Amino acid sequence: MNIPTKKNRKILVTQALPYANTPLHLGHILEAVQTDIWTRFQNINNNECHFFCADDTHGTPVMLKARELGISPEELIKDVYKDHKSTYDLYGIKFTNFYTTHSDENKKYSEYIYNEAKNNNLISKEKIEQLFDENEEMFLSDRFIKGSCPKCNEPEQYGDNCEKCGASYNVLDIKDPISTISNSKPIKKESEHIFFDLSKKADVLKDFLKSSNFQEPIKNKLNEWLDDDLKKWDISRDAPYFGFEIPGEKDKYFYVWVDAPIGYIASIANWAQKNDKDMSELWSDNSKYEIYHFIGKDISYFHGLFWPALLSSANFKLPDGIFVHGFLTINGEKMSKSRGTGILARDFAEICNPETLRYYFAAKLNNKVEDIDLNFEDYVQRINSDIIGKYLNIASRSASFLKKNKNNISNDIDRSLIDKLINEKENIINLYESRNYSKLIRLIMDLADIVNKYINDNTPWKKDAKDAIIISSTAINAFKILTIYLSPIIPNITSEAFKFLNITDCSFDDINNDLTEQINNYKPLLNRLEPLIIPEEDDMDNQNIINIDQFSAIDLRVAKIKEATNVEGADKLLQLKLDVGEFGERNVFAGIKSAYKAEDLKDRLVVLVNNLEPRKMKFGISEGMVLASSNDDGIYLVSPDKGAKPGMQVK
Ligand code: 2FM
Ligand code: ZN
Repeated sequence: MNIPTKKNRKILVTQALPYANTPLHLGHILEAVQTDIWTRFQNINNNECHFFCADDTHGTPVMLKARELGISPEELIKDVYKDHKSTYDLYGIKFTNFYTTHSDENKKYSEYIYNEAKNNNLISKEKIEQLFDENEEMFLSDRFIKGSCPKCNEPEQYGDNCEKCGASYNVLDIKDPISTISNSKPIKKESEHIFFDLSKKADVLKDFLKSSNFQEPIKNKLNEWLDDDLKKWDISRDAPYFGFEIPGEKDKYFYVWVDAPIGYIASIANWAQKNDKDMSELWSDNSKYEIYHFIGKDISYFHGLFWPALLSSANFKLPDGIFVHGFLTINGEKMSKSRGTGILARDFAEICNPETLRYYFAAKLNNKVEDIDLNFEDYVQRINSDIIGKYLNIASRSASFLKKNKNNISNDIDRSLIDKLINEKENIINLYESRNYSKLIRLIMDLADIVNKYINDNTPWKKDAKDAIIISSTAINAFKILTIYLSPIIPNITSEAFKFLNITDCSFDDINNDLTEQINNYKPLLNRLEPLIIPEEDDMDNQNIINIDQFSAIDLRVAKIKEATNVEGADKLLQLKLDVGEFGERNVFAGIKSAYKAEDLKDRLVVLVNNLEPRKMKFGISEGMVLASSNDDGIYLVSPDKGAKPGMQVK
């Protein structure tokens, strides 16, 4: 099915919700840019298009990350929200609403959809056996289990498949399993889970695949999955879990993949409420809007099967299309921190103008599910040659002649050149609409070449003033059209270009209007990019280097253990009462029980991190940390030589 191209469409788009346990990397930006360009294009093409997103805040990784940082999950997701939002801002991502899945609206919709599914006989309960970490008192999902492959015995395999022999297995069959959270041996334990019966929705899903807009390989894959036995989907997780409790159940939470996509609806509902919009018109059983999801290929299963099944069980409109992109590679390699290619979006924005990355991604993106490579050399070359050498070059060349005419534009322009550009409008619209951005960029740059050639061929520098003004006025009008064509891709540069042209930001309707006003003086709108320095692996290791001020910020002090006691219910901790001289007494929980007996520690001198923020733990507040070295064999406290006194600074 082709997307209708009639005007004045009403459209809602979403991108996948980023997890709230890590900062954004360039892969997130690739998807955001793809979606943002499409949204901006729709809006300057007379459609009403809204772009929604939120942070995906629930699940075990968020819970564990918060624990690692010694803060509550609520605090963590608040901090990450600010970081995500401001990072997207750097890249000009213009959300209609960027919300959170940890919201009242999301709870309400999650409960509603679940209850509807229950009323429609789609929910059942079953006891299942899982691995359970007794130290942490929690069930372990596959990603927190490692062990030896049951087929080939390869050690250190994670989850339910073996990297060595490629076997997939039930995680319960893994040999010598270890919990990666506590490094202890988990036990098998039974628990009742809640399931959604996907097979009862098979017909709905088949129709959905026929009637909605999918890329061919995705449709084929989803059909393949549909033709297989559709297993019941486990939608519950046991406490402890950071998420929404399932109504009518005790200590059972919605699996994060239930309330994450419902977060799309919640983000819309939150915006609707603040803007006095009718939610039933936006997303309901008779929504007046087309709905599209932009996602990466790894989450096609969730969006192509689970999500429409959930929506349909509560009578919500199903999406009109799901647009899937491939992964981002950097200089031909998968993104990886250790190879220096796991670049954070915030860091990259410090090195390069983020608009240039938008342009580069657009130049590489098409509507296929192919991986996209960000090659630094190609990137620098492409930006310098296309944006500066072709597009902006037209403005700077023309501006110098027009300045001699007090920046006044002539009405007498060469229509044949202008018409060549205007005539491509429909092609350009179609390429935007079909997300064929790479072809679109090639077309726009071909037009820029034509304009530059027009200037070269007409040699305004050899002409008299009047002719030079006509040539430059023609070129600057062509520049205006190219600016409109490029505006969804590089909105900030084009916004500055519109200011230079002394007009406000334009839509595709303005293509035919010639410039009539006096323009402004031209100032360069982008600096040439210098070659990007890619840190070598060794340099990456050195990124841990801190300067003397950073080191001095850590206040290390000698402390004397006045008392050490076991902590009830904690296998790894000892509670230490420390004498820190002039700093008084401190209470510290130290994970050293496996190496030291409480009674052996009295009067021992240790080194305390004295200015560490106190951390609330299950057993009380820990007011610092004692230094110890450790590896798999043991833990060794660091102690100053005899003679050191409590409270002395360690420098
Ligand atoms: O894969 C991910 O990063 C998920 N956080 C995407 C969720 S998209 C939607 F379903 F919420
Ligand atoms: Zn194996």
